[in-house]
Amino acid sequence: MIRRHLSDEAATRTLAEALAAHQPRGAVVHLHGDLGAGKSTLARAWLRALGVTGTVRSPTYTLVERYPLDDGEALHLDLYRIGDAGELDFLGLDDIEAALWLVEWPERGAAALPGPDLEIRLAIDGAGRSVELVPGGRAGSGWLAALAGDSRLSALPEPKP
Ligand SMILES: Nc1ncnc2c1ncn2[C@@H]1O[C@H](COP(=O)(O)OP(=O)(O)OP(=O)(O)O)[C@@H](O)[C@H]1O
Ligand SMILES: [Mg+2]
Repeated sequence: MIRRHLSDEAATRTLAEALAAHQPRGAVVHLHGDLGAGKSTLARAWLRALGVTGTVRSPTYTLVERYPLDDGEALHLDLYRIGDAGELDFLGLDDIEAALWLVEWPERGAAALPGPDLEIRLAIDGAGRSVELVPGGRAGSGWLAALAGDSRLSALPEPKP
């Protein structure tokens, strides 16, 4: 697990850029954290880092927003308002070969979602945020190892205990 303190939104952007630089193909990312913890801020910065230039809308009501990338498609989901898991099946996401999944409130999508390569846990910490990166499976472990050697990540402080 990797832990960092994100003192402001610029720090969140730095993390997003480092994550995007090393993401494995088809990466599934679960974004955990209370309301206002900074999940959408990280997702938006991540999509920007991948070259998305248009509007990045919050998928609060649509459940999913899709973004074409050079090498596929990124999916940004927010399941906060999902009624039941059947709504996810209805979106037909299983048929999409996504290059990246960014999922806010994944606990509400339960079994209908692919398992995570990376779990990101965000929390309010003073005026900033704390973040924990927890790998799921081999792809996630390799990803975090690459990230640990990235100078952008070294520039971010570890949280105070
Ligand atoms: N690292 C940071 N330091 C300080 N403020 C931040 C940081 N990251 C995000 N914020 C601020 O936190 C607020 C909430 O962020 P955001 O909308 O990303 O939260 P969220 O986790 O997606 O919430 P929700 O569950 O409601 O969708 C925003 O005003 C944003 O500017
Ligand atoms: Mg959000």
